[in-house]
Amino acid sequence: MATNRTFTMIKPDAVSNGHIGAILNDIIAGGFKIVAMKYTRLSEEGAGNFYAVHKERPFYGDLVKFMTSGPIVAAILEKDNAVEDFRTLIGATDPAKADEGTIRNKYAKSIEANAVHGSDSDENAEIEGSFFFSQLERF
Ligand code: CDP
Ligand code: MG
Repeated sequence: MATNRTFTMIKPDAVSNGHIGAILNDIIAGGFKIVAMKYTRLSEEGAGNFYAVHKERPFYGDLVKFMTSGPIVAAILEKDNAVEDFRTLIGATDPAKADEGTIRNKYAKSIEANAVHGSDSDENAEIEGSFFFSQLERF
């Protein structure tokens, strides 16, 4: 399994606020190569499955509603130490706590509408990437 890849989504808030270009720019400037990318939309079932680990959390219902509220950009990214370095690039889940200059610090509005997703482990990066992309769609 590749350990130099991570998975991201530009979430509906950042798409509708016009931040796709700026966020992709930060990702590329951060040294990540785009391996696969698609502009798409999550169904309720898809979002429910994607966030199944959070099913028991109080924010789950709202999160599924938010993630299905509009289009997203899904992408697989490659860089040495991709998972950890991408989490550093995006900042804390709560944008109010995200370091200056991070993607969530710059573009996120709330702990829910926090602009981007980033995988939390190599294993989840592979699972999440496979959710959106076949092997043939990865470069
Ligand atoms: O995305 P990240 O890994 O930083 O956070 P998470 O704990 O895995 O939560 C997944 C997503 O649920 C977050 O990115 C938020 O969009 C949302 N969330 C929320 O709405 N309220 C919370 N208290 C925590 C997370
Ligand atoms: Mg997470």
